[in-house]
Amino acid sequence: MKQKLLLLSALLVLLLNSVTAQYNTLWIPDTLSGTSFNLNIKDTFRQIVAAGQQTITGGINGNFWGPTLFVNKGDTVHMNVKNYLNDSTTLHWHGMHLPAVMDGGPHQVIPPGSTWKPYWMVSNNAATYWYHPHLHETTEAQITKGIGGLIIVRDAIESALALPRKYGVDDIPLILTDRDFSTSNQFQVVPYGDSMLTNGTLRAQYNVPAQVLRFRILNGAIERSYNIGFSDNRTFYVITSDGGLLNAPVAVTKYLLHAGERIEILVNCNGQNGTTVFMKAFNSLLGNFIAGGENFPNGPFANALGKIDFNILKLNIVAPTTNPITAIPTSLASVATIPTSSAQTTRYLTMSDSAGVPGVLGPNAFILNHKLFSLNVIDYQVPLNNTEIWQITNSTAFGHPFHIHDVEFNIISVNGVAPDASQAGWKDVVFVPGATGGGPGTQGTPSVVKFIAKFDDYADAIHPFMFHCHISLHEDEGMMGQFVVTNPTNINALSLHEDELEVYPNPAKDKVFVQFKDPANTAYYVRLLNTLGRTVLLLPQPQLGEGIDISNLSKGVYYLLVTDQLKKKTVTKSFVIE
Ligand code: C2O
Ligand code: CU
Ligand code: CU
Repeated sequence: MKQKLLLLSALLVLLLNSVTAQYNTLWIPDTLSGTSFNLNIKDTFRQIVAAGQQTITGGINGNFWGPTLFVNKGDTVHMNVKNYLNDSTTLHWHGMHLPAVMDGGPHQVIPPGSTWKPYWMVSNNAATYWYHPHLHETTEAQITKGIGGLIIVRDAIESALALPRKYGVDDIPLILTDRDFSTSNQFQVVPYGDSMLTNGTLRAQYNVPAQVLRFRILNGAIERSYNIGFSDNRTFYVITSDGGLLNAPVAVTKYLLHAGERIEILVNCNGQNGTTVFMKAFNSLLGNFIAGGENFPNGPFANALGKIDFNILKLNIVAPTTNPITAIPTSLASVATIPTSSAQTTRYLTMSDSAGVPGVLGPNAFILNHKLFSLNVIDYQVPLNNTEIWQITNSTAFGHPFHIHDVEFNIISVNGVAPDASQAGWKDVVFVPGATGGGPGTQGTPSVVKFIAKFDDYADAIHPFMFHCHISLHEDEGMMGQFVVTNPTNINALSLHEDELEVYPNPAKDKVFVQFKDPANTAYYVRLLNTLGRTVLLLPQPQLGEGIDISNLSKGVYYLLVTDQLKKKTVTKSFVIE
């Protein structure tokens, strides 16, 4: 009897072990902080699937995803982005308010082997933002590889609140994606994956202290929305929308997070030491025509996670830390939304199917304003400091997460209804639901979303900002447009001649200086090419006073392409590095 019991308990231990072995410890991205950030984008590989081959991935300073960048509101941050991929890429600072030439959209291409050095003054509110590639028609593939990272902005208002902020302990980043693996464990570039990947971890679990926890959640998926909740249906508290704190925590039991969106939530685990709970995606509750709410049995959209509930993270609740946060605050910030009455312009946008639209290839693409995206077409000229209402009418049956660069906005209404408290703050992605009541042969009633934004600070007649569906597949297929912010007082008829700037010393050693004869002028862009014509350095609006650091470059002849600020005319000068 005793032996039998022993055997039984041994079996039980084995069984328990194999059950817990199904879970992998959640990976927490490294952090970088300060004002100068080195980001090296590389092709690499990582053991993601427990057994068998490693997965070919893309990573920034590591082998999947990238570091979480901590920045302070008010600081000027400098990015040194080096592209070690064999392909061109871009790096877009999603949600950041910055000059268009620093934005990292499809126009700020970083060729292989070159370094791009944007910088800007952080003016965003404390919240969770992110960075990711944005090369037109390649975004889906490069995000699928795993290239991206989080940006956490701190400010005085957030810092004064009693909120969890021990990164990786009680303040936990969660990057939600899903992936499809080939039989040899390689990522497939498809809109929907078969496996949930939380911070690049399959079947993730994490030990969390029994206190109030903060999760910073990014929907970094190619297409899928996640209807976030907990296995015990507990209440949790939304404290931010994309671009800042809400007025007060909003108690919910589910939150539907669409591609590109972020929320920060508080979860009360006081006194729950020794228990476990699952964060889950309750996607069985989603309607058709919300990404992830369909169950396609076959075809390009078939996947194992369609219209089912699945785990995002297993939380093993352990002993509390010293000085834990144990209470949910009653108030957070005071969000001063933009009054609708202050709008000077209303723009009307449409989302529709491309079928039957002249000149649009492929019957199944979704399009904005009845046309496919073109890099050469500027859709809107937005006057600097304009306050605008953008009204988006979606006549497709499918819902699309609409994203705009440059600004954070306030949602005015979705189908006539004002947003609930969890969406009543600053946003840079808004979900535009599909048309309702449609069916075979009928179009249904289009959905209408309105938001309001102020386009302040950064005018640039050359470099546009983008707006698009944040489903990367749709974006790559052309569901995108662009606008420039214009400042009429900026136009100047001067033209740059070769003799109006000097490059010295020549030959140069560690630094080379560019000086304009007219001290009123400055450089809009400086580009350095080697004799093979390859770009080695990309410097948007460089501060030329300190000279250009060339200490990392090999000896030889280089071409400096300088675009001036006044006329946006480019002059080429050659010099030698010795
Ligand atoms: Cu996160 Cu234009 O994108
Ligand atoms: Cu963006
Ligand atoms: Cu879309």
